[in-house]
Amino acid sequence: MPRPILATIHTDALTHNLDRARRAAQDARVWAVVKANAYGHGIERVFEAFRAADGFALLDLAEAERVRTLGWRGPILLLEGVFEPRDLELCSRLGLWHTVHCDEQIDMLAAHKTQAPQRVFLKMNSGMNRLGFAPERFRAAWTRLSALPQVDEITLMTHFSDADGARGVAAQLAQFERITQDLPGERSVANSAATLRHAAQTRADWIRPGILLYGSAPDFPEHDAAHWQLRPGMTLATRLIGVQELKAGDAVGYGSSFVADAPLRIGVAAVGYADGYPRHCTTGTPVLVNGVRTRMVGRVSMDMITVDLDPVPDAGFGSEVTLWGNASNGAVLGIDEVAQAAGTVGYELMCALALRVPVVVA
Ligand SMILES: Cc1ncc(COP(=O)(O)O)c(C=O)c1O
Repeated sequence: MPRPILATIHTDALTHNLDRARRAAQDARVWAVVKANAYGHGIERVFEAFRAADGFALLDLAEAERVRTLGWRGPILLLEGVFEPRDLELCSRLGLWHTVHCDEQIDMLAAHKTQAPQRVFLKMNSGMNRLGFAPERFRAAWTRLSALPQVDEITLMTHFSDADGARGVAAQLAQFERITQDLPGERSVANSAATLRHAAQTRADWIRPGILLYGSAPDFPEHDAAHWQLRPGMTLATRLIGVQELKAGDAVGYGSSFVADAPLRIGVAAVGYADGYPRHCTTGTPVLVNGVRTRMVGRVSMDMITVDLDPVPDAGFGSEVTLWGNASNGAVLGIDEVAQAAGTVGYELMCALALRVPVVVA
């Protein structure tokens, strides 16, 4: 009998979330961002749900090959572009579109021998200062690229640093628009937060939602997933494998960080940091037992956590424990709440799901 932990990928929720992006995008085409193995969900597991997208965006060439192996003939975009010259051969062979964000990538293209010119996304650094040409260098990059026989159409793109927060997108968008206003070509600027919060200004020709597709709110805690009508793409659940009756003054787990101030029933759940449950979660982190909301107490161990059974007196050995996602009784625990308790974001929890956790697609 394997340990009772299980991750479930919810195809209908992923489909619903993609639909949600499409509604926000109106006429824009939608890249389903599936980098990092579809944010930890598994590219093969989300493929059916996302095949209604207009393209798949990712950054690992091996992942691009996997999407083609699944039979996808439509667009695939490499969000970081190529890393070395021979990657361009793979782009030619697999028909990959790729981001161009630096001179070195233009040099590689200029030296590339190809029959068929390639479709590229020219990236501007409009303020995030991660990848992209500075605004004052963007037009020169465009001119150089557009003169290359290796290059087909050029789409203009940028990426927002603060679409989820108070700074918003206005300054970056103004910069992008100022520099590109008279350049031909399609545009792509919006990630999930821009798509949901700044739809009218940012939808352009292509949107690039990632996190929203998986059912996490890009701007939690200002808004939660339910506010944006998003549904959890993944449930992580396990069972109780033990129960302890604490007396007042008894402590739980490593470091005795939690001490009961009154008699307390504690459930021991088969999940730990070796499964991807964050060790930074502390006493009070929400968890569902039999679909009833309670709290984690004490420290997260490698293979176990301990939970307060006070609100669930009927719980015992074998009871369902939902770490995030949907409980059998229909209750939902948002991954963002758990992430917040660990001082991180839903993205990290999804991506950190450990290999040892069995996954089913429902
Ligand atoms: C260039 C680019 N576009 C889109 C996305 C998707 O972002 P999100 O998951 O916040 O929607 C990312 C993610 O980092 C990205 O780097």
